Amino acid sequence: MCSRKFFVGGNWKCNGTVDEVKKICCMLNNGEVPCPNHIVKSMLRTDFQVAAQNCWKGKGGAFTGEISAEMLANLHVPWVILGHSERRQLCGETDAIVAEKTAYALDNGLKVCLCVGETLEERERNETGAVVARQTAAVASKICCWANVVIAYEPIWAIGTGKVATPQQAQEVHYNLRKWLDCYVSPHVAMNMRIIYGGSVTAANCKEIGANPDVDGFLVGGASLKEDFIAILNARN
Ligand code: G3P
Repeated sequence: MCSRKFFVGGNWKCNGTVDEVKKICCMLNNGEVPCPNHIVKSMLRTDFQVAAQNCWKGKGGAFTGEISAEMLANLHVPWVILGHSERRQLCGETDAIVAEKTAYALDNGLKVCLCVGETLEERERNETGAVVARQTAAVASKICCWANVVIAYEPIWAIGTGKVATPQQAQEVHYNLRKWLDCYVSPHVAMNMRIIYGGSVTAANCKEIGANPDVDGFLVGGASLKEDFIAILNARN
């Protein structure tokens, strides 16, 4: 019997002046939240964990602008989001680069929230399952231990658009991705892998999406900057 711990991450993206971060931390510190969650740091209660939004694909060095996995570990930042569609599309991160980054981050003791997801055109061509499998397979070819990985399914057409996936759409992709893991990685990994949903999650839609058996949480963008986030953290309560 598996009990996958519900996981909610807040992806603040390129936001957050000091004042804005103080306000968000105050909102979170005062919020009724069920258990440790994974959000950005320092002014937050210790029951929250921290995630970086990216890291370099190898050992640190002369890579201006990059943050290495070693640096994150040294700063006691336990999580890193990798493969977000905005990095794949805006920064040219290929499946191979995301896989390399994931392997190196895990090798340096970080926990990885691995993002996968299709474009609207790929969905309309009924290629969603193949895209998500391809992106996951690239990582599977580089790593052998999945214990410190959470997979975030984020349909690109739902990110920042207000066009959230239906609960059925999310459940279908999560179910098929778990079947893929069962078949190509292992039944143990499939059963224990937390597959979370991201893309226009709000207080209004989180309960229905989160009620699905293969939806193990959320990766939240815009709503993580607002009071809505407290309701999303409590989606399973
Ligand atoms: O990583 C989560 C993010 O991409 C989702 O953004 O604003 O649609 O919740 P948003």
